[in-house]
Amino acid sequence: MASSDLSPGTDGHGAPDARVMLAAASGFSVGAGDYERGRPSYPADAVELLCRELGIGPGATVLDLAAGTGKLTRLLVPTGAEVVAVEPVAEMRALLEASTPTVDVRDGTAEHLPLAGASVDAVTVAQAFHWFDAEVALREIARVLRPGGGLGLIWNERDTREPWVAELSRLIRWDQRGEWQVPYTVEDDWVARIEALDVPFGAVSRHDTTYRQRMDVDTLVARVLSTSYIASQPPEARSSLAAEVRALVADVAEPFDLPYVTVVYWCRRNP
Ligand SMILES: C[S@@+](CC[C@H](N)C(=O)[O-])C[C@H]1O[C@@H](n2cnc3c(N)ncnc32)[C@H](O)[C@@H]1O
Repeated sequence: MASSDLSPGTDGHGAPDARVMLAAASGFSVGAGDYERGRPSYPADAVELLCRELGIGPGATVLDLAAGTGKLTRLLVPTGAEVVAVEPVAEMRALLEASTPTVDVRDGTAEHLPLAGASVDAVTVAQAFHWFDAEVALREIARVLRPGGGLGLIWNERDTREPWVAELSRLIRWDQRGEWQVPYTVEDDWVARIEALDVPFGAVSRHDTTYRQRMDVDTLVARVLSTSYIASQPPEARSSLAAEVRALVADVAEPFDLPYVTVVYWCRRNP
């Protein structure tokens, strides 16, 4: 497909706006380096499932929305699909462009996508749908998807069945200390949430798998500090949390694995 086919129309779409929550914008802009260093990739079986279910491969065009530094984007490139990536935060976009030089990277938000109607075959959203205004974003995603096109959502969630990970989650989830609010909870059921909305998508499927991120203590600290609402905290608060994280794993031999449950959701735009 010619890149001009993906250009925004004259309906005002394409202008990034203030919908990116303040915590996301400030947290992800100051924390882009920690993000790239500390955040996990995605398990091969989950990416294969998404590609199979969404028809991502040669001849197809896929939009990786809220692409961040390109952690999922770079796994879509080898499929042979034409990949377009949208990311609103400039600091994340700079790392995205560096990590995925063949990808068409654009500034924009889920609620105002810089793409023409019915211009992509699939849309993926990794670790980001919880930031969106879900109903507005789903209508906008439906606009850019061809009829019958697929939407895939994926999240890595810390696997708190391991006690030290449960304790790490308690440290990170500062909302439970009553100090800061976390934008969503890992328990969110996106099947029920999406199916309750008046949007042109069919039934939502879900598949859970696991992933282990090999790391050392410095990577774990970068992982924690890249959490958006932590990245935007004052330096003293960040240093104090980093010290707590280092103490938590002081007796653990490096390298060690941070375990995740990876949750994949997918659905199709109505024909
Ligand atoms: C946790 S990061 C995930 C990045 C990447 N997809 C990955 O898998 O690593 C969340 C991303 O969502 C982006 N974001 C937040 N609100 C957004 C919105 N309304 N529209 C598009 N992107 C948004 C942030 O800028 C950030 O890059």
